[in-house]
Amino acid sequence: MNVDAPAPTRRTQVNERTILDARGLTKHFPIRNAFGWQTGVLRALDDVSFTVDKGEILGIVGESGCGKSTLGKTIMGIHQPTDGSLIFEGNDIAGAAPSAARERRRHLQYSYQDPGASLDPRWKIRRSLHEPLVIHHSGLNYDEREERVRAILQAVGLPVGHLDLYPHEISGGQQRRVGLARILTLQPSLVVLDEPTSGLDVSVQATILNLLMDLRKQFDLTYLFISHDLSVVRMICNRIAVMYLGKVVEFGETEAVFETPCHPYTRSLLSAIPTIGGARVIDTFSLEGEPPNPGNLPSGCRFRNRCPMAQQTCAEVEPELRADWPGQEAACHFAQ
Ligand SMILES: Nc1ncnc2c1ncn2[C@@H]1O[C@H](COP(=O)(O)OP(=O)(O)O)[C@@H](O)[C@H]1O
Ligand code: SF4
Ligand SMILES: [Mg+2]
Repeated sequence: MNVDAPAPTRRTQVNERTILDARGLTKHFPIRNAFGWQTGVLRALDDVSFTVDKGEILGIVGESGCGKSTLGKTIMGIHQPTDGSLIFEGNDIAGAAPSAARERRRHLQYSYQDPGASLDPRWKIRRSLHEPLVIHHSGLNYDEREERVRAILQAVGLPVGHLDLYPHEISGGQQRRVGLARILTLQPSLVVLDEPTSGLDVSVQATILNLLMDLRKQFDLTYLFISHDLSVVRMICNRIAVMYLGKVVEFGETEAVFETPCHPYTRSLLSAIPTIGGARVIDTFSLEGEPPNPGNLPSGCRFRNRCPMAQQTCAEVEPELRADWPGQEAACHFAQ
């Protein structure tokens, strides 16, 4: 189903279609002991740079804990970046004062991995959908808000009667739809979708994906699509960023990365995708062991303790993303 979108550009190339420009984005969390004293730093996001073009779906993939949600939340302003710049629709949103940054981020929305997190269990769905409009469109009266909310509820495939229900009275799939409706009330241009189908039955996952594709067309949306489901990412994303321990280790056009993965980590991720009949796509790289503690990273390449190709240089020099291949970049001294 690879979506139609403008021809992809290079990772940090700004052009007239660029909607988001992230440069050197970094987020460190303090590590504290039982007394509350800081004993170290957890590098959840380390010097991440890329641009997103209007209309595209950029996939962010990697194992649990690699920093995908931290990336989404830092872009969204839920976390303050430790370093780096963020330009959204031509405006600085990382360095701006909080009130200005909030206003500039209005067309940038984050869809939580847990849809329950964005819905107050004590509120009927109607109140959850009216609330963003009350805050951001205070000029609208009740009837005008209700009209907009009903139209959006219909767009996400829910009957108007659901407005009078509480979150616990609807299914997980319907909660996702309400979460998307809540986001759409603010007319976003870029939506960060954090694991939008996780925890759902396979059949419900497919209907949510189809809905996301419909909404994208109907509301002219751009998606940052965070997922650990590589099959889905391959199906719908135009470009992907592969993350490992807070770094982007491979970036490129989806088909190029899936057909000819250059980084050993990407190769091992892809080799773990089961295909029909249980066969493997690539069976030369199996991913063993756990990632190292992000509060105590190894020197040089942070993948080296799990890498079957590691050599002495890998412990001494940290590899940077290199654009040695058409449509693809990898951060590995010996990328193939
Ligand atoms: N608010 C936080 N405080 C401290 N550490 C955090 C916080 N949020 C995430 N982390 C840590 O940052 C790393 C990346 O987490 P996360 O972005 O949630 O990964 P992912 O979404 O890829 O599973 C993990 O080691 C996680 O424990
Ligand atoms: S730089 Fe070395 S350790 Fe890192 S991925 Fe490449 S070969 Fe493996
Ligand atoms: Mg996450």
